[in-house]
Amino acid sequence: MVSQRLKGLEYAIRDIAVIANEVISSGKKVYHLNIGDPVKYDFKTPAYICNAMARAALEGQNFYVDSLGVPELREEICKFESNKNSIDLTTEDILVTSGVTEGIFFILSGLMENNNEILIPGPSYPVYINYAKFFDGIPVEYELDEENDWAPNIDDLRKKINEKTKAILLGSPNNPTGVVFSKKEVKEIIDIAGEHDLPIISDEIYDQIIFEKEYTCPASNSTDVPIIGMNGFSKAHLATGWRLGYLYYYDPENKITELKESIAKMARARLCANSIAQYAAIEALKNPGTHTDDMVHKLKQRRDYSFKRLRQIEGVRVNNADGAFYIFPKIDFNEFSKWKNDKEFVVDLLKNTGVCTVYGSGFGNYGKDHVRLTFLPDMETLEIVYNIIEDYLK
Ligand SMILES: Cc1ncc(COP(=O)(O)O)c(C=O)c1O
Repeated sequence: MVSQRLKGLEYAIRDIAVIANEVISSGKKVYHLNIGDPVKYDFKTPAYICNAMARAALEGQNFYVDSLGVPELREEICKFESNKNSIDLTTEDILVTSGVTEGIFFILSGLMENNNEILIPGPSYPVYINYAKFFDGIPVEYELDEENDWAPNIDDLRKKINEKTKAILLGSPNNPTGVVFSKKEVKEIIDIAGEHDLPIISDEIYDQIIFEKEYTCPASNSTDVPIIGMNGFSKAHLATGWRLGYLYYYDPENKITELKESIAKMARARLCANSIAQYAAIEALKNPGTHTDDMVHKLKQRRDYSFKRLRQIEGVRVNNADGAFYIFPKIDFNEFSKWKNDKEFVVDLLKNTGVCTVYGSGFGNYGKDHVRLTFLPDMETLEIVYNIIEDYLK
């Protein structure tokens, strides 16, 4: 009765949460290092943004709004992208979505069919894989090279392009590795896309959560290659549950007009994104506050600590994260032969100690033998958790 399309859908991050709930029901304390949601930890949505949302509701902005998004918000997004990334956009280039997740859904609905292919980083955010398959496409992973601090393997990317390839996706900072692509790497990927007449899809949800390295925006470095950027309010503005994001089309030579118009039809078919959250987002962009910088400051300490502790465990190999809030160590299952693979280890660790992480194979083929941990919890919790993990592995 149920379609193969839905039967095949898997999402490791939420699937592991189901087991965590069983562990909680059995009376055990669970330490959540599995969710990329800062609002679940000690980061809170700023009051002035919450007030803007409440005000919008009380003032009666409770109706369906423009399918592309409230015009004033689209204007603020243009200004924001222009200030941050020096790109010229008009309100027509912006589509407000229910989070980046809906943006990915829209783009892949417009590009995928009949087993055509999209290049995505390996490892990467599972939603790219899910939605590509959902629309009868094939997600093809290009390697992020762990031996080279997770830098994209440009030769591998080049080799994997063929006549079925429809686009190249990049996400920097990357979930789950935390790698930030260098300017040189971003430019090389743009050049390859240009040679093959492919658009680039750029997931920029973590672009403001960066520690030492500098962020390179693909659209700021492209002269003619079309870039569809995606960003949102979940992470930088601590509003994950509001489900608000946007797409922008940077397309100086109008190469993807048909795709843009088709996605607009898709947007009309779903009416609109959350109206009152859009008014709150206007406030967040007009008055960005200090919450993002404060978060990055706290996260840096937590990242440094997590890296230090993981490095000290024998049989664990780890690169530090340049951005986002995840670290992605590799576990040597020859040394730790009690467990067959990453999934078995993660489930066992959760059931026996209450430490909840995500198995790396949930992030694609290149994630095998890894574990994703978030460093969002406070230092005290991180210390407890790393003591547990260290003891458990011993
Ligand atoms: C790389 C990446 N893109 C997108 C999202 C989801 O963003 P949104 O809340 O805007 O849908 C996540 C969430 O963890 C993510 O890690």
